[in-house]
Amino acid sequence: MSERAYDRDRLRQFLSGEAAGEGLSRRRVLRMLSAAAGLAAAGAGIGAGTAAAAGRPGIVKPLPAELFTVRDTNAETNWAALRGTGYHTPVDRFFVRNHTATPVLDPARWRLTVWGGGLRGRAAEFSYDDLRSLPAVTSSACLECAGNGRSYYASQQGDRVTGTPWTLGAVGAARWRGARLSDVLRAAGLSRRAVDVMPRGLDPVYTAGGTDYGHVRRPMPVAKALDDVLLAYEMNGRPLLPDHGCPARLVVPSWVGIASVKWVGDIEVSDRPLFSPWNTVFYRLFGSSYPPGGSAPLTRQPVRSAFEAAPGEAFAAGRGHRLTGRSWSGGGGIRRVEVSTDDGASWREARLHDAPRPGGWVRWSTHWHPQEPGPARLMARATDTAGTTQPSRSVPNDQGFFFDAVVRHPVRVV
Ligand code: MTE
Repeated sequence: MSERAYDRDRLRQFLSGEAAGEGLSRRRVLRMLSAAAGLAAAGAGIGAGTAAAAGRPGIVKPLPAELFTVRDTNAETNWAALRGTGYHTPVDRFFVRNHTATPVLDPARWRLTVWGGGLRGRAAEFSYDDLRSLPAVTSSACLECAGNGRSYYASQQGDRVTGTPWTLGAVGAARWRGARLSDVLRAAGLSRRAVDVMPRGLDPVYTAGGTDYGHVRRPMPVAKALDDVLLAYEMNGRPLLPDHGCPARLVVPSWVGIASVKWVGDIEVSDRPLFSPWNTVFYRLFGSSYPPGGSAPLTRQPVRSAFEAAPGEAFAAGRGHRLTGRSWSGGGGIRRVEVSTDDGASWREARLHDAPRPGGWVRWSTHWHPQEPGPARLMARATDTAGTTQPSRSVPNDQGFFFDAVVRHPVRVV
């Protein structure tokens, strides 16, 4: 089944009350939806978690201010800190998106349970060594939060949206190494009846606005699970850090970051469609431009671009500067990037430094010779291999996902 048909199908099933999985009835989902809408109205957003409430981000690795901007339980990469780094984002500056707090788990005691009606027999258990003894594959892929760029709905378009006000730093690219999820599922006894696969994290349960949403979990179709998904235990050649999912996490290339569940403790393999708050209440598009029940669950990331520069960075007038940045898309590789330094009056092609590759990004550069001192705005507009170009305006949605418009990056000419 195509991804699009799958999405349509699940949405119809959900709306007609066929939602199954952990007793998540349609009535309960509707209650959660209205709780989430209440949160939105109160301006609490979907990023507010327990650790943040206590004034701590709940992240283990150091978060120096030159590398990160801390937002509640999350840490956003500062784009200026990527200048001069290679293709892969160094782990010391890779963004962290936590619904609650990083759990510190001992790989030696960790167990992964694979269970459910989509298996031929009983549940199967894997230790860390079992996982590492399966054939290892290495894959370079971007990981990005669906809410990346959310703050620009308000600052560029005047839209009211809820959630963590990321700029563009909720994205990174890493070299992931691990077992294929397909090998794990087959070793567990995957049956032909299986339709959905739902990994669940071992981090604390997520509560917001008095509603307990349970552990982070999100289903995906078995076809995607068997395609290019990894159960990764290494990132850029080192074991995963606690913040990025140690001992093991999913890496679901091209899809919304929420699909890449960290600290996986169990995976349900179901012979019926599965639903969780993360594909019903969150990570769908709601609002006046969408159907009353919301869009289908979000899967592929949109096209985006960012400059490797700080907001408000100073550039000397009358001199040449090399501007650098990166563009990426869940819909394919990036085949073209245009840059404007005169508020969109004229555009020139940036030089691409990487070949277009699905699931990856391209680094690019261009030359700028500003003349007059004063405020200026840098704009970059990418086109992917599917032919999608970043628009000048994003269609808003209540939870502020998928901001794909060209960002106007403010700088100063001095
Ligand atoms: N998995 C668990 N268990 N808990 C989480 O809070 N956050 C998700 C995903 N997996 C999350 C999770 C989201 S929204 C994103 S964008 C990515 O992890 C972020 O991965 P990172 O923190 O390694 O950058």
